[in-house]
Amino acid sequence: MDTAQASAVTTKTITFRIWRQDDPAKPGHFDEFKVPYVKGANVISCLMEIQRNPVTVEGKRVAPVIWDAACLEEVCGSCAMNINGRVRMACSALIDKLEQPITLEPMSKFPVVRDLTVNRDRMFDALKRIKGWVPIDGTHNLGPGPRQAPVDQSVMYVLSTCITCGSCLEACPQVTQENDFVGAAAISQARLFNMNPTGKMNSEERVRSLMGPGGIQDCGKAQNCVKVCPKEIPLVTSIAVMNREVTKLTIKDIFFQDEAPKGHGSGPG
Ligand code: SF4
Ligand code: FES
Repeated sequence: MDTAQASAVTTKTITFRIWRQDDPAKPGHFDEFKVPYVKGANVISCLMEIQRNPVTVEGKRVAPVIWDAACLEEVCGSCAMNINGRVRMACSALIDKLEQPITLEPMSKFPVVRDLTVNRDRMFDALKRIKGWVPIDGTHNLGPGPRQAPVDQSVMYVLSTCITCGSCLEACPQVTQENDFVGAAAISQARLFNMNPTGKMNSEERVRSLMGPGGIQDCGKAQNCVKVCPKEIPLVTSIAVMNREVTKLTIKDIFFQDEAPKGHGSGPG
């Protein structure tokens, strides 16, 4: 703690209720901790303070709390958790703006690994399903790519800021740990890569990947995703754009059935 921080410390404390779970198969419980109030503190800096001295309000020394974080500036997406019942990034959640006691829980739509850490594999599996990349045919210099219109660039830039945090899946009533709905983030990434002048070459594959079980048809249009996205990505617009593409391809398949390549699914039901 530097001098400026030390002078900002008062006798005030902040109370945390933190979900503890040693193992995905074991039941969990809450532990309560108090940490000294520091002006400008965020949830991660308080978790670090608790890690230094993991003693509960009852005076019991417990195992340090486990959580994920890396960039501490809302870029890596790893620190998403439920804070006072709402999913958000812990590194940008300022203590001064939160009601106490501050309750921290892991996201519920992903399997718990331990305490506040979850396994977000389903997000990366969804990106694989929609082929969220632009294929290249070698590492040699291919020269400049096709030019992009500024109007497309401005849309694509916002879509490209997705940090795969999982907040949109956590807030979505259609996503459960038991189903495989790809969720808003992957649908929006399919839109991004289909807008890319080179990525367009695989656009039909991406649209087909959104058909069938777990695809775009599972969206219930609750629109919670767009409310919680820390990057303010227009997810509802992305879903509408890709839904239109799925409908167009389904109609094309009906009229040109013999020519339709075999895809991930048979189309929206
Ligand atoms: S779309 Fe937004 S909420 Fe969803 S994973 Fe990306 S950054 Fe997170
Ligand atoms: S630590 Fe990277 S987004 Fe919070």
